[in-house]
Amino acid sequence: MVSFQHRHLLSIRPLSRADITAVLDRAEQHVEKNRARDKKQSSLRGLTLINLFFEDSTRTRTSFELAGKRLGADVINISVGNSSVKKGETLIDTAMTLNAMQPDFIAVRHSESGAVHLLAQKVKCSVINGGDGTNEHPTQALLDALTIRRRIGRIDGLTVTICGDILHSRVAHSNLLLLKKMGATVRVVAPPSLMPKFLRAFLEEEGAEIHHDMRKGLKDADAVMTLRLQTERMQGSYVPSVREYFHYYGLNREKFSHAKPEAIILDPGPVIRGVQIDSDMADSVGRSLILDQVEMGVAVRQAVMELMAEGR
Ligand code: NCD
Repeated sequence: MVSFQHRHLLSIRPLSRADITAVLDRAEQHVEKNRARDKKQSSLRGLTLINLFFEDSTRTRTSFELAGKRLGADVINISVGNSSVKKGETLIDTAMTLNAMQPDFIAVRHSESGAVHLLAQKVKCSVINGGDGTNEHPTQALLDALTIRRRIGRIDGLTVTICGDILHSRVAHSNLLLLKKMGATVRVVAPPSLMPKFLRAFLEEEGAEIHHDMRKGLKDADAVMTLRLQTERMQGSYVPSVREYFHYYGLNREKFSHAKPEAIILDPGPVIRGVQIDSDMADSVGRSLILDQVEMGVAVRQAVMELMAEGR
């Protein structure tokens, strides 16, 4: 049995290459089981998962719920409207209250970077980061890695280009950390307005190649990941207009032709057609793996919870 010695999954940073491979290998087994008629397993029987989402979610919350239920756990969903929640004491109070009910896992999404780390200090169970502010979204990076590995067979040596709102994207940050750890070259493409100095410094320190010209950024790439403009996190305007943004930074057939002929397209969703990606690219049969990512999301979350439960 593989050992995965992490009580929480808050960031990609503490994971070793072996940990990441262990999650992906275990998830592979679940992909097969999830395609069978009887999807029910019992590895998390008796355990409780609480989904605590302070921000909206379709894919992440549903896949945590399915992952827990398919492995036999009891799953509770708590959706907290962002506006009704205050930071600090309220978050800690919520954590303490839930902790008193003896859950085994809490999957948390919160609009503040670092809120999930704070919560993890207050509870006895395992906390899984389902996205904290603009910081990290580790299970998304793991499911993206699984999607890439299943299609291309490896991650090591690939060039992955991440395009779009890098400034506000926790998905991009976790992906950068994971892909670099696994030996990929990571390029980041964004307009200068979405790449302030501090972010540029962070990206360079983590080993990303920075581009403002999408065609150069896509040159001979093995995979391209588009990201939506996270307008809900923007104060003021970062792009002149959506039309102009799409012209320079939206993925269309012509820009995609600069990548390798067999290149693949990923997007964590929500896919905003005509902004970060053209419809014919998002729906491109054989190239777009956007729905594969959704499928892998369930398997990866099953794998993460199972490995954490075994490691206890
Ligand atoms: C992303 C998120 O919430 O961080 N979506 C997801 O989890 N699949 C990306 C986004 O909201 O743009």
